[in-house]
Amino acid sequence: MKIIQVSDLHLVPDGQILYGLDPRERLRACIAAINAEQKDADFCVFTGDLANAGRTEAYEMLRECLEPLQLPYYLGIGNHDKRQSFLDVFPDVQRDENGFIQYAIDFPGVRFLMLDTVEEGEHWGSYCAERAAWLDRELGQSDGKPVYLFMHHPPFEIGVPSQDNLRIRDAHLFTEIVAGNNRIRHIFHGHVHRPVCGSWCGIPVSALRGTCHQVQLDLVTVEPIPLCHEPPAYAMILLRHDQTIVHYHDFLDKSAISETQASDYRNDKSIAGPLPASI
Ligand SMILES: [Fe+2]
Repeated sequence: MKIIQVSDLHLVPDGQILYGLDPRERLRACIAAINAEQKDADFCVFTGDLANAGRTEAYEMLRECLEPLQLPYYLGIGNHDKRQSFLDVFPDVQRDENGFIQYAIDFPGVRFLMLDTVEEGEHWGSYCAERAAWLDRELGQSDGKPVYLFMHHPPFEIGVPSQDNLRIRDAHLFTEIVAGNNRIRHIFHGHVHRPVCGSWCGIPVSALRGTCHQVQLDLVTVEPIPLCHEPPAYAMILLRHDQTIVHYHDFLDKSAISETQASDYRNDKSIAGPLPASI
């Protein structure tokens, strides 16, 4: 399967600029790139911070921006979202029995779970007993299929203090359920606005830059969050039964080396050397 992950859109109402950027233009460019480059993907997943201040107008903008997207898509929320405003505009998005925006996405032989890590009114994340009970049950009903988790906040530290301060703070129940569950193949999260990969409790994890502003690799500052204009990206996730591969694509990048430039290099033996040129 191929999945496209997009995160941290931070949409603001019409005409507003956020940190010198237009989040709607960025999202439109991202969707145009996905349509052009990823026609064979199975679906697109959005891992939260859809709106910057949870405003209804921003969710209406999101709905409008998503209209041209040629892939099925699934939405999750982040700390900048507001559940009720989101649901007012996207009433068909599934919820669990307690109203949290978490649900299963089932394909033949594989299950994806969208988790809700939002503590309303706070920027740090939470995974309470009610949500954990749902997760435990959904994992139990996965019929032995591999399971992949989508969530906004990570339950672990990434070594960047401003983001570690805002991770899931009550992750003990989540950890009890997830750590050691050998059906869980990968955790794809957002929130940190940085390309990050590694593993936690033996489970592979990855995150990506947002479509608008990013977070600096600042290893000291906790507050205010050090932001930057590193390029936006989407992730292309390739899944097989025996591997998970994640590519990060800076969809605004136009730096491709033309064939003419490349062949000039290949033909200049003083630069390319005696062997055939390669990467
Ligand atoms: Fe964000």
